[in-house]
Amino acid sequence: MTVANRILVVDDEMVIRTLLVDILTEEGFDVESAENGREALSMLADPGEFVILFTDIMMPEMNGIELIREARKDYPDLIPIIMTGFATLETARAAVKEGVYDYVLKPFSLSEIKLAVTNAIERYSLSHENARLREITELFHISESLASIHEEQRLLDYVLHAALERVNAERGSLMMTTEDGRALRVAASVGLPVTETHAMVDMGSSISGWVAEHAEPLLVGNIHDNPELIAMSRNLSDRSFISVPLERKDPRDGLPQTVTVDVPRVIAVLNVNAKKGGGEFSEGDLKILSIVANHAAAALINVRLIEDLESTHLATLQSMSLVLEAKDAYTSGHSERVRDYSLLAARKMGMSEQDIEILRVGAVLHDVGKIGVSDAVLNKSGKLTSEEWEAIRRHPSVGYDVLRPVRTLAPEHLQLIRSHHERMDGQGYPDGLDGDNIPPLTRIIAAADAYDAMASTRAYRRALSTEEIVGQIAEHAGTQFDPDVARIFIELIESGELS
Ligand SMILES: [Fe+2]
Repeated sequence: MTVANRILVVDDEMVIRTLLVDILTEEGFDVESAENGREALSMLADPGEFVILFTDIMMPEMNGIELIREARKDYPDLIPIIMTGFATLETARAAVKEGVYDYVLKPFSLSEIKLAVTNAIERYSLSHENARLREITELFHISESLASIHEEQRLLDYVLHAALERVNAERGSLMMTTEDGRALRVAASVGLPVTETHAMVDMGSSISGWVAEHAEPLLVGNIHDNPELIAMSRNLSDRSFISVPLERKDPRDGLPQTVTVDVPRVIAVLNVNAKKGGGEFSEGDLKILSIVANHAAAALINVRLIEDLESTHLATLQSMSLVLEAKDAYTSGHSERVRDYSLLAARKMGMSEQDIEILRVGAVLHDVGKIGVSDAVLNKSGKLTSEEWEAIRRHPSVGYDVLRPVRTLAPEHLQLIRSHHERMDGQGYPDGLDGDNIPPLTRIIAAADAYDAMASTRAYRRALSTEEIVGQIAEHAGTQFDPDVARIFIELIESGELS
């Protein structure tokens, strides 16, 4: 934060200028003076922020009110105080109503000057303190929201929108470093032409690439003042922009122990373009974006860690399903066969790729709930007691409960597992769903599951013949099986595609 200490005194009378400079310097301020409005405006443009503009009203060329109006366009935080003779007191009062902070009547006393300046400085500090507090509160909200988003794409969209809003930018993008670290890919964007929304750029040939390679932010007030950047830029219509890297704090943050190759330290680059109202981005904007980028990098690494953990968890559960089957020669390979049969049927029925993907993952897991049933019951060749039968009937809901915490599984996956023993007539388990209340994908798994059971030899019976299986499926179409699914399975069996 700037020390609130600089004052610009403007008066065409040298005596008054000198007097004011002396008084205020004596009070410890950093004071400069100008003898007319034009000179004052050029001094304001110099680096170093003036806090107070102390100006006479009646001056040749540009009067004090005009000067204030011009100065506040570029420096809205500047606090204007006017000096006025009795003749222009009414003008001074009107100016105060329009936002001039205060006026001092000529001839003035030392204490009047001191009072006006002290009040103005106090107000400046207060409004800056308030603005800073607002900024901190906003950033705090952003960081809180980031921690609550657990899905990568949503997180990226949120980061970009929050960043644009914080710095009043109209356009922007968030670009992710590709795995090999050689390029950047647009992962979220606002206001980009459609052709650019999934663009890839090489590291060496773009501004984002430069930021990623050097792990350094870039603030550009006007690209046309930077010939070396013009060559790299893909977009010259937005003259002012900021690009900041999202970096791992530690080069190994968020990486599994097993990954030993060098990975890029910068995981993404946040770009904001086109300040609303056509102005230039400031150092303050850069500071805000750097904070947002820091939080975003940490959140992104977390989301990826969680996703990794979940997919490991899922892989473990799939392995458990397979191990469970492998213990029993009769069921060995059952889940994978059910998956293959389901996919064949789904393709023949013209299901979408998305549905097929759900079947692919869900089918292997459909009997995972059997981990809750003892081997003795699962492999029993004699008649089951009612308790044993109950234990078997619980496996779909046990599987559902085991898998529910895995966020990478969609409700459709969970439904497959829970409902694969439901029947069209409502006589199935665990929920007694019927007809259309059983989702279409589940009806496919149910038929594939039954087919594999009939086609396999079990401890207590031999495998059924093709004719017997077709007979069974036809007989139970509409009661146990969805009639359309049953028809497809019969076609697949008869054409030999299933064997
Ligand atoms: Fe089952």
